Amino acid sequence: MMIQDARTTKKLAKDTFEAWAETYDHSLLNYFLFRPSYYTFLEEIARWRADLDGPFNILDIGCGTGTFPCMIALSNLDARHIVGLDYAMEMCQQAARKLQRFDPDHLVSFVNGDSEHLPFPDAMFDIVTCANSFHHYPHQQVVVSEMRRLIRPGGRLMIIDGFRDNAIGWVVFDVVIAAIEKSVHHAPWTTMRSYFEQAGFSEIYHRKFNFLFPAFITVGSVPAHDG
Ligand SMILES: C[S@@+](CC[C@H](N)C(=O)[O-])C[C@H]1O[C@@H](n2cnc3c(N)ncnc32)[C@H](O)[C@@H]1O
Repeated sequence: MMIQDARTTKKLAKDTFEAWAETYDHSLLNYFLFRPSYYTFLEEIARWRADLDGPFNILDIGCGTGTFPCMIALSNLDARHIVGLDYAMEMCQQAARKLQRFDPDHLVSFVNGDSEHLPFPDAMFDIVTCANSFHHYPHQQVVVSEMRRLIRPGGRLMIIDGFRDNAIGWVVFDVVIAAIEKSVHHAPWTTMRSYFEQAGFSEIYHRKFNFLFPAFITVGSVPAHDG
């Protein structure tokens, strides 16, 4: 994608979500499409951590109003630091307000930033998650490599986005959502896999799930011997 296009894509996403932030939590899309993703992440994380000791650090990219980071804080998962990052300042502010109700132990913080330039040191997190945000990124491979930089050896990346590889998904995401949101790109399943491979992830797997619309999760691990 050309630089000008990339800037336009990012600005469109930022403007859309700055404007949507206040009503986002009460929207039908949030209820039917986005929320089920959080349960998919919780399930994956719980299954993965079941045999592991010790607390973990987690970063949620494109965290929106911060519902998923707050759910982690309230869960019985052993999280030490929970960070949410979003490009829209107004989303971060909504998320920060939510903390007062849902984060009694002050585990969570929110950062305003761009997924392409993540302001954290290498190998800071055990898990990086990203739900329903990836299709807004103009340089998707760059973002997956940047996510990979932040994950410690043995850690995991989990991305959820719309599944556009069947007829329903294609109509919903490539036709309808693309016409409404403009300048978005839902990566096909095989492309997502190749992003993970190129960034050096191993043990990559996908799982498709359906709520109102089809979506899929891609999970990859950073090799334990990674230096
Ligand atoms: C549909 S919302 C999803 C929010 C949340 N993850 C969820 O599932 O409810 C997409 C989010 O991605 C954020 N976003 C878009 N482009 C971004 C970028 N380049 N870097 C970080 N966040 C971005 C938007 O501001 C928005 O909050």
